[in-house]
Amino acid sequence: VGAGDRGDGDRERAWTVLAALTWTSERFAQAGVASARLDAELLLCAAIGLDRVGLYCAYDRPLDAAERERYRGLVRRRLAGEPVAYLLGKQEFWSLELSVDARVLIPRRESEHVVEAMLRELAGRPAGAPAPRLCDVCTGSGAIALALAKERPDAQVVACDASADALVVARANAERLGLAVDFVAGDLLAPAGVRAPFDGITANPPYVAAGELARLSREVKHEPQLALDGGADGLHVYRRLVPDALALLAPGAALVTEIGQAQAAAVSELCEAAGGYEAPEVIRDLAGLDRVIVARKR
Ligand SMILES: C[S@@+](CC[C@H](N)C(=O)[O-])C[C@H]1O[C@@H](n2cnc3c(N)ncnc32)[C@H](O)[C@@H]1O
Repeated sequence: VGAGDRGDGDRERAWTVLAALTWTSERFAQAGVASARLDAELLLCAAIGLDRVGLYCAYDRPLDAAERERYRGLVRRRLAGEPVAYLLGKQEFWSLELSVDARVLIPRRESEHVVEAMLRELAGRPAGAPAPRLCDVCTGSGAIALALAKERPDAQVVACDASADALVVARANAERLGLAVDFVAGDLLAPAGVRAPFDGITANPPYVAAGELARLSREVKHEPQLALDGGADGLHVYRRLVPDALALLAPGAALVTEIGQAQAAAVSELCEAAGGYEAPEVIRDLAGLDRVIVARKR
């Protein structure tokens, strides 16, 4: 960023909010950043401590040297492909502000369908049923588990992940949000087995096929490989998750899992092969893509 020193004889010109935004949006657009103006605004907000409304009211405000330096650092990192959520250190999910960094996948809007589906399952339990026991596996930042804990404060929620680093982030999120989730480390559902039976199991496992990993956007490549890599065909984790969950669910309780593009048929087949689920339901996301499988134990 040439902030305040464009090397074109214009050294005296003040580097204002508007000038910074205009320059950066153009630079981001040239670099192929999809939401160039929005990213420029969010990074400038972070650099100078304003929200977006504040930014719009301060177009003529000059940036001081420290602000320019902070902004320049963020813009450089964005141009190198780092996702905005990592640069800001936060991402909203289910109206919860979650801290995120490179130890965890950035929670996606699509995964809110997992939360919705599980809440609907819980709402269908008979009146007077005891407090639900829930497990969120592959929890990452804790997004799904924390959203469920927020909506169902009566529930006992345990959440697991193989990454001890991810769980540090998840526990900090729970503490900051004042939500009670018990985070345990280990492979898939193994660490939660002692708490079974569950009245619901949620998952957003890694499901990107090995051949697809190289084709992911620059941004996604900054996210943990363990959060993405679903093995040769993307179904590696589902092959264990689907039967393991069946063993830990109470009768009538559901496994609600996110799926990747074109995985609905294969994951439904895994549910049928497991032998104890009702015919799975497939839920589409806002883009009309198959996104979530709900498999209820008979
Ligand atoms: C796609 S991310 C989902 C994170 C979070 N649930 C979300 O929706 O934002 C998948 C997570 O699964 C974890 N994971 C991968 N393999 C695992 C395994 N075998 N056992 C437990 N967790 C695993 C990764 O560490 C990562 O946090």
